[in-house]
Amino acid sequence: KWFVGGKLNASENCLDVHLNHHRNKPAIIWESECGQTTTYTYGELSNKVNQLANALKNTLNISKGDRVTIYMPLVPEAAIAMLACSRIGAIHSVVFGGFSAPSLAERINDSESCCIITAQNAKRRGKTIPLRNIVSEALKQTTSSPQLVTLDKDPNSTHENEYDFNDLIQQHSKTNTAEPMDSEDPLFILYTSGTTGKPKGILHTTGGYLTHAKYSTKLVFDLEDSDIFWCTADVGWITGHTYLVYGPLSNGATIFMYEGTPDYPHHGRFWELIEKHNISIFYTAPTAIRAFMKDGDAIPKQFNLNSLRLLGTVGEPINPEAWEWYYSTIGNHQCPIVDTWWQTETGGIMLTSLPGYHTMKPGIAGAPLPGINVNILSESGTPCTNNRGLLSITKPWPSMLRGIWNDNERYEDVYWSKFDTYFAGDGAMIDNDNDICVIGRVDDVLNVAGHRIGTMEVESALVDHTAVAEAAVIGINDDIKGEAIAAFVILKNDQKESDDLIQDLKNHVAQMISPIAKPSLLVCTPDLPKTRSGKIMRRILRQIVDHDPIGDTTTLASPEIIQTIQEKVQLS
Ligand code: WT7
Repeated sequence: KWFVGGKLNASENCLDVHLNHHRNKPAIIWESECGQTTTYTYGELSNKVNQLANALKNTLNISKGDRVTIYMPLVPEAAIAMLACSRIGAIHSVVFGGFSAPSLAERINDSESCCIITAQNAKRRGKTIPLRNIVSEALKQTTSSPQLVTLDKDPNSTHENEYDFNDLIQQHSKTNTAEPMDSEDPLFILYTSGTTGKPKGILHTTGGYLTHAKYSTKLVFDLEDSDIFWCTADVGWITGHTYLVYGPLSNGATIFMYEGTPDYPHHGRFWELIEKHNISIFYTAPTAIRAFMKDGDAIPKQFNLNSLRLLGTVGEPINPEAWEWYYSTIGNHQCPIVDTWWQTETGGIMLTSLPGYHTMKPGIAGAPLPGINVNILSESGTPCTNNRGLLSITKPWPSMLRGIWNDNERYEDVYWSKFDTYFAGDGAMIDNDNDICVIGRVDDVLNVAGHRIGTMEVESALVDHTAVAEAAVIGINDDIKGEAIAAFVILKNDQKESDDLIQDLKNHVAQMISPIAKPSLLVCTPDLPKTRSGKIMRRILRQIVDHDPIGDTTTLASPEIIQTIQEKVQLS
């Protein structure tokens, strides 16, 4: 626990504290996919947040401690919704707009949300995604009937307890007294994948989280008053919480927010935006950098990127080749790169090289921030002897998770049972300068294009399909995504393998979880490599796909299955 008994309000610290000196400074500059720009100054943002806070409190009767699910596209109203919740002490649970109805329903049910703030539609690569219809689908699977606040609500909707976002806030005052919160009062829940089929509701509290969000943003990004900070993450991920909303706004910074994807309507879209909006700090993911690199240097060279002064990366290990490209082609050898390691659970950045202070090393995140203590431990919890082991944070830090929503047992088990100190789930190496290189997950969690996906979640989605008897999922190397998903499926006896069925199974995963969880490779097989006690040996599946020598197979129930799967993979 941190700062117990201290009172504050996160929304007030992101808005009201800036109104004296920065009332007319842009807080959010937003651009839509089709190129329309909207700017909110701190004064304007504060008015909108207050109006929505008043509406949530007085019209929807939401009070401190209630949960609100936010399911929105990347629009300023998403940040307004988050800040309005924190202003009245409601706990927000943002669900990424790319999640499907069953995933959304699961998160609404687990958090017992009394309200969903959503939008009628989202835009993606020129297509309209009917978010509100997905909410309707999800509501068929929820245990209660939450109230709805819908941006651009369909006037013909006959849904009960549904409000149009803008009509609703217009009826409310632009002033609001923020709810005093204890430092340890919950601020938000954010669901993330773990090693079981059920996502974990990571709980963050107010004082500690905001302290680290503000401190780390200022320190790591060397924030100055004139900066225009673009963190490309969606609000649906922790990066969007800490470095798109709470960190920059608590520092009174100007953030840039873009609704769309890097490759639409053309592959130079991000560079065009950097030039147009004079972005000075650019924070993105290695998977995006690798995709840009593949597109070639000619595209970014068409734009003036001189406004950039600092670059950052997050989400997965960055390969030195992509790092070098980012440094030379995007940064023109002028911009330090911060390779930041952290997790949904840590709330903010834990490891990085500080710009202008540490020596940057391509592919190596670096040192813990001042105040953060880490160690690389062996399996048994002793410090590693060969510079390689499991990453542990060894002292409490302000923005550490405070629990898993409704599941204390799992919280203790996942993070605190392996060592006496926090177990991060990542393997890491430490060099002679004490710089840390994070290698990747050591559990059954995949990192696909920087998104965390549990193998069990994908397996559960596959066995949910009527044709499937059993499934095993592994991560395979992918040039752009870092890791991609390969699924091995045993069909039920009455099913016949076909290209259509394989496509159908892949689509089923996308519909059950999200398109980001769709397997790139799906192989139907009569059996899986299992031990005599029936445990699936995923290691062998990985070796088959990677064409690595298959090690010891004596523990396998039927070793001959290896050859069958090898042949199948060859044909796929
Ligand atoms: C996992 C956390 C932190 C925000 C985005 C992802 C991997 C993250 C790095 C990095 C190597 C990294 C780890 C970590 N990861 N940043 N700079 N170098 N690996 O948040 O979804 O909670 O995933 O992402 O494996 O455990 P998340």
